[in-house]
Amino acid sequence: MAPLDLPSSRCAAVVVSFVFLFLYFSLFFENGEVEANQRVFLYPQSPKVNSIVSKQYRTAYHFQPPKNWINDPNGPMYYKGIYHLFYQYNPNGSLWGDIIWGHSVSTDLINWIRLEPALDRTTPSDNNGCWSGSATILAPDSPVILYTGSDSSNRQVQNIAFPVNLTDPYLTKWTKPAYNPLIEPVGDLNSSEFRDPTTGWVGKDNLWRIAIGAELQGKGAAILYKSKDFVHWVRAKDPLHSSSASGMWECPDFYPAVAEGDGSETKYVLKMSLTETGMDYYMLGKYEEDRDAFVPDNVVDDYRLWARIDFGKFYASKSFFDPQKHRRVLYGWSSESDSASDDVAKGWAGIHTIPRTIWLDNSGKQLLQWPIEEVESLRKDEVHLQDIDLNTGAVFEVKELKEASQADVEAEFELYNLERAEPLDPNWLLDPQKLCEEQSASAPGGVGPFGLLLLASDDLVEHTAVYFKVYRSQNSYMVLMCSDQRRSSSRPGLYKPAYGGFLDVDLQKERKISLRTLIDHSVIESFGGGGRGCITARVYPEALCTGSTYLHAFNNGSTTVKISTLKAWKMRRAKINENISIRS
Ligand SMILES: *[C@@H]1O[C@H](CO)[C@@H](O)[C@H](O)[C@H]1NC(C)=O
Ligand SMILES: *[C@@H]1O[C@H](CO)[C@@H](O)[C@H](O)[C@H]1NC(C)=O
Ligand SMILES: *[C@@H]1O[C@H](CO)[C@@H](O)[C@H](O)[C@H]1NC(C)=O
Ligand SMILES: *[C@@H]1O[C@H](CO)[C@@H](O)[C@H](O)[C@H]1NC(C)=O
Ligand SMILES: *[C@@H]1O[C@H](CO)[C@@H](O)[C@H](O)[C@H]1NC(C)=O
Repeated sequence: MAPLDLPSSRCAAVVVSFVFLFLYFSLFFENGEVEANQRVFLYPQSPKVNSIVSKQYRTAYHFQPPKNWINDPNGPMYYKGIYHLFYQYNPNGSLWGDIIWGHSVSTDLINWIRLEPALDRTTPSDNNGCWSGSATILAPDSPVILYTGSDSSNRQVQNIAFPVNLTDPYLTKWTKPAYNPLIEPVGDLNSSEFRDPTTGWVGKDNLWRIAIGAELQGKGAAILYKSKDFVHWVRAKDPLHSSSASGMWECPDFYPAVAEGDGSETKYVLKMSLTETGMDYYMLGKYEEDRDAFVPDNVVDDYRLWARIDFGKFYASKSFFDPQKHRRVLYGWSSESDSASDDVAKGWAGIHTIPRTIWLDNSGKQLLQWPIEEVESLRKDEVHLQDIDLNTGAVFEVKELKEASQADVEAEFELYNLERAEPLDPNWLLDPQKLCEEQSASAPGGVGPFGLLLLASDDLVEHTAVYFKVYRSQNSYMVLMCSDQRRSSSRPGLYKPAYGGFLDVDLQKERKISLRTLIDHSVIESFGGGGRGCITARVYPEALCTGSTYLHAFNNGSTTVKISTLKAWKMRRAKINENISIRS
């Protein structure tokens, strides 16, 4: 196969076309002559048609198993020196179904050893699926999993599982007691809308508590349960919190968030995943233990105005406290933006985002998120640029970053002439995604649009624009952050929205805004304003298969923006699916 020995960065489809060429020339030289119609037949009609199966769309440092479907991250925990990640997994294919718990372990949250599935569909209380749940460490030697089983009557019930061998550092095998299920959907609970138990916490009365996602009389709710022993659970009279502004809450997450510094500023976070939008939202507030109620700082009765964990392709996130580094770490699931038939052809679907540290902003008004520091161990070949003026209409190529498909980029934009910012229409706050669609990178503006063009083809026909635009509102400024996928790929049949949201940045004081972007083949994870806003996007540029991809900065505002500093690194491949035998 020597003639096919192409650089590994090429797609299967390109290889295929070479196979055809090779065949053609072999035939030609063997027969001495080939008829014209045969020649047409032998050339592939469209050489790129199969490119969605290209290895170029698989990620190099974002978590994904070797094949098949994954969705929610489950039961993350740190136990005796090892990080555990479980995940919703279909061992039988790349569409949702037959769900069990995959299991991987790590010492740095970036490189992973792949283990046998932890929970399989083996009992009457989970034989239609081992769905999402959480891990809780009850005592130094006592990690347990609570998860939702879809039982033999397709009811959603809550089950427990224990590690078989506590001296096995990887907690490879898990066992389920015969007394499962622990909690059944009785009374006013709808057995189709009752799932995803949280990690447990202990109250002053020494009782364990958990919350379970539900829809209760048309309201999204986190139902509270209490227990002495983590096995016998009693439902509290009232939910931890509920809201008539939305339907079903999936994957609730409940935890204290601490601000940097002396840590005196603490708020509780209630996060919920809304089935109706496929997005993750959160509320900040107080936990009133006497009443066992979460009380949000602001009650907002329109979920379009709820705070978001990520404005993009990001769902079912779950966090855990990492006692080793005293931080809270959050992961989310990012599903594909291609079609189901593409996923069947690829043989895989779904990735997890890079774990993020999540903490409370000093204002106490929002959460901040940043990729865990361990991801920086993959950086190499640093590029460092400074003081680049981007005038109106500028497109500046970062030539020093050769091959921009596996990269980490940090840029800081300095702003001038803020008075040129256009006025904000408050109605836009309800639908920033629509505003990003209308105010694209090519729509001229006052301060912005400016930002980066990622995974761009050499002719710039394909690119994903991640950018900011500043608006004036009363006495302050609002920053719109967008990630526009509409030109990300020339392939037909992809979902290519322009995601976006507003960031609360004190521009009057700071006069600059930063953008960090993790680029990994089919995923672009962007962090604006030091983690005030995050946008995860899934993209499938043809350029990944047919050539190289490039990084540019641009400005289409009427006022100059300066890149005060831009650092970019190529990223090494992480070890995502190591076999256990390699290490032991
Ligand atoms: C995978 O499919 C096979 C054949 O249909 C079935 O026997 C098996 O139970 C499936 N695996 C799971 C985890 O559902
Ligand atoms: C438990 O795990 C330890 C460490 O891996 C191993 O040496 C031991 O044989 C295991 N015990 C059983 C009963 O499997
Ligand atoms: C229970 O939930 C299912 C799924 O959302 C819904 O179709 C059904 O109408 C609900 N049942 C009741 C009694 O509300
Ligand atoms: C900037 O605007 C011009 C005019 O609309 C457009 O041709 C160009 O593509 C825009 N730049 C980017 C990066 O979109
Ligand atoms: C791990 O083991 C599986 C199954 O035995 C094998 O197919 C795969 O190639 C191995 N992976 C690595 C990275 O060695």
